[in-house]
Amino acid sequence: MNKVLVTGGAGFIGSNFVHHMLRCYRDLTMVNLDSLTYAGNLGNLSDLKEDSRHIFIRGSVGDSDLLTELFSEHAFDAVVNFAAETHVDRSLRDARPFLDTNLGGTQNLLDAARAGGAGRFVQISTDEVYGSLGEQGRFTEHSPITPNNPYSATKAGADFLALAAHESHDLDVVITRCSNNYGPFQFPEKLIPLMIGNALDDKRLPVYGDGLHVRDWIHVDDHCAAIDTVLRTGRAGEIYNVGSMHDVPNVEVVKEILHHLGKPESLIQYVEDRPGHDRRYAIDASKIQNELGWSPTVSFRDGLKATVEWYVNSKDWLDEIRSGDYQVYYQKMYGDRDRSTGIRPV
Ligand code: NAD
Ligand code: TYD
Repeated sequence: MNKVLVTGGAGFIGSNFVHHMLRCYRDLTMVNLDSLTYAGNLGNLSDLKEDSRHIFIRGSVGDSDLLTELFSEHAFDAVVNFAAETHVDRSLRDARPFLDTNLGGTQNLLDAARAGGAGRFVQISTDEVYGSLGEQGRFTEHSPITPNNPYSATKAGADFLALAAHESHDLDVVITRCSNNYGPFQFPEKLIPLMIGNALDDKRLPVYGDGLHVRDWIHVDDHCAAIDTVLRTGRAGEIYNVGSMHDVPNVEVVKEILHHLGKPESLIQYVEDRPGHDRRYAIDASKIQNELGWSPTVSFRDGLKATVEWYVNSKDWLDEIRSGDYQVYYQKMYGDRDRSTGIRPV
């Protein structure tokens, strides 16, 4: 493999993936298409400025002309589609950008890949397309698709579009559905970096509802290794769940962050719940483990400790993001939630 098109590679997982691939494969060129929304950050790629194997292009997957141009200019061996609007809370306020990028953008990219003769197309999806679990069980690739919010609904739609391109046009599509990621360069609207940032500033840590919603946490390095594995060895038309079997209630994660930072649990504030809040996610990743030989290597304990340290040492990166528009976002999302629900920490 010589040349890969990555979309959304200035975001959290995409930028980690670009780093992973350039670290692992000497002769690889990564063309990185990203429109730099609020979540895209060239600061995530600053160490690659001098690396000619990384070509950054600012542009949108919504721009079909640009995609056609890109495919005529480069002979891509593969496409990895990370580009998306990704935050559930934002999707509950305004679903439109999610429809445009997650559905429209994915279809544009599928069309361009087909016309441009790209080899493999990896669609980066999420376990959230499966909706919520009850007390027991884990999501398998055969679990019903029952998304509960506009973000997960558009991601589910994108999966169907990608599978349709495989069935109808024989495009070499593979889909990954991963659980919640954490690690360096995650935008501080998501649980772990938001809580670390607030704790560093001795601000309240807003835990939704009763804090007992369960997420299955995987370090971003393990996710990137899984995508690399699927890209190289996954079977066309298949879906691979990715997770590391660390499913815990949110409040436990928040307490562990406070513990690492030496901050008091009294900073936790239980706030009004997210509407339609999925109660529990847990992934069965045995297919990718048994079929492709991937398995996670980072324990949550070590991964979270290293992640907290990364944010402590990257306070400038964090502070730059949290200036300006972020304050407006925070006020909009949390301002009217800023009354405690009266739930006491457990
Ligand atoms: P992110 O929000 O950090 O990054 C998304 C990136 O996509 C940003 O750089 C943004 O500028 C770019 N982008 C948005 N719209 C675009 C457009 N129209 N054209 C080009 N680029 C555009 O997201 P992330 O957490 O890195 O997630 C990446 C992918 O992984 C998403 O598809 C997401 O659904 C999936 N995923 C995320 C997680 C998670 O826990 N974060 C878990 C499973 C799957
Ligand atoms: P999030 O990081 O937004 O990921 P997702 O909704 O895609 O799983 O949220 C993870 C969990 O943390 C989810 O159950 C919602 C909860 N949460 C809070 O309790 N408080 C917060 O401020 C945020 C952002 C999330």
